[in-house]
Amino acid sequence: MTEKRENWGSRFGFLMAAAGSAVGLGNIWRFPYLTGENGGGAFIVIYLFCVFLIGLCIMTAEFAVGRRSGLAAVGAYKSYSKNWTFAGALGVLSGFFIMGFYPVVGGWALAYIAKSFTGLLAVPEAIGDVFGAFIGAPAEPLVWMIIYLVINVLIVARGVAGGIEKAGKILMPTLFVLLIFIIFRSVTLPGSSAGLEFLFKPDFSKVNGQTFLAALGQAFFSLSLGMGCMITYGSYLNKEEKLPSNAFIVTAMDTGVALMAGVAMFPAMFAFGMEPAAGPGLVFVVLPTVFAQMGAAGPILSGFFFLLLCIAALTSSVSLLEVVVAYLIDQHKMPRKKAVYISSAIMSVMCILSSLSLGVMSGATFLGVGAFDFFDILTDKIFLAIGGMLLAIFVGWFMKKEDLKDELTNGGTVEFGLFEVWYNITKYVIPVAIAIVAFAGITAIQQKGLMIFGLLIIAVLAVFSKKL
Ligand code: PFF
Repeated sequence: MTEKRENWGSRFGFLMAAAGSAVGLGNIWRFPYLTGENGGGAFIVIYLFCVFLIGLCIMTAEFAVGRRSGLAAVGAYKSYSKNWTFAGALGVLSGFFIMGFYPVVGGWALAYIAKSFTGLLAVPEAIGDVFGAFIGAPAEPLVWMIIYLVINVLIVARGVAGGIEKAGKILMPTLFVLLIFIIFRSVTLPGSSAGLEFLFKPDFSKVNGQTFLAALGQAFFSLSLGMGCMITYGSYLNKEEKLPSNAFIVTAMDTGVALMAGVAMFPAMFAFGMEPAAGPGLVFVVLPTVFAQMGAAGPILSGFFFLLLCIAALTSSVSLLEVVVAYLIDQHKMPRKKAVYISSAIMSVMCILSSLSLGVMSGATFLGVGAFDFFDILTDKIFLAIGGMLLAIFVGWFMKKEDLKDELTNGGTVEFGLFEVWYNITKYVIPVAIAIVAFAGITAIQQKGLMIFGLLIIAVLAVFSKKL
């Protein structure tokens, strides 16, 4: 234990930091393209189900575990039993791996703020090629990625209240305002209603096992769950805060922003007759193309949009870095600054590999995928869901029910009327639901070697992590 543990300065500050962690590239970059690829409304229905049945319960559980133990991911599990250290270690590893590709996309967003004003929109037909050439170039995306990572380092090095909380309090409200502005522009375009229909009229013929895994993985990724991030943030929370209502607010804000991102994008895309299933390039190709057709306002709107994407990404990657840093502080007594420098140095190497894997190093694959996809698929499709399942099993079957009740009702001083419902869903429904979805999805996935490798990593951690 550190002698004097840091704490959030205020409730608003905590909420902005936690919502800032949740709201990120997952909402604005990934959610719309997954929705587009998986048929629109039907995916959204399944996603909402995953968020409110599974995600909300797990978030409540993560807050409870974090605040109860007063420790970050590894320490929280370990303080219960050394046999559980591996579940926390898996979380820290997930954070590390997500930071192996997330700053690359963050760097793209940063670059696109500048590009919006320097001719990107001048030739609408060339925007797709520009994106392909940009992410495949050896040097330019690396420069932006490093700038992006340095901003993270500067924030996290300043600590919890001074850095992360302050940044969240300014950045999150800005994001809301910008998003509402872009939505307004999008839904007032002629022909935009087809986009709303695509989003909100479910077509279940497009649904299969993969859709469920994609929705579940996305729910965990988007809510920052299954890797101890909300355990870590919960550990800085004071004893007066009501955990269930905070979990609800964060979940609702995150889901609200994802849906808002959908409403900002699809109506505009349909208005301009574009393809919804554009994949990961959706935000970087389709939107600038849409902006390019808006005349003089185009570059400004585009610049605003990528600023917004950057802000969202930043408050999330800061939390990812914090998971790793908090582990080094709690378990290895490392000074904060040193922990930040060491972990971000390793992350930058992983990001360089990821970025190059989309261009000059595209031939260098491991288990059939390049570095970018390796980090992405391993975390999103395996680690987070399994991390969430382990947490549900830990909370439901190993922690004392009275302790959980005590924590969630602040020692019996506040009501949590749904405690039994929450407890039973967490204990029985979630482990089984995740097992079924993960099994169906993992067996249907193409990269079998990678799946086996991921499960092997978890097994190795389970055997060797007691010393961590
Ligand atoms: N929730 C973030 C997003 O939607 O972009 C990503 C993320 C942050 C995942 C923190 C996991 C995490 F612990």
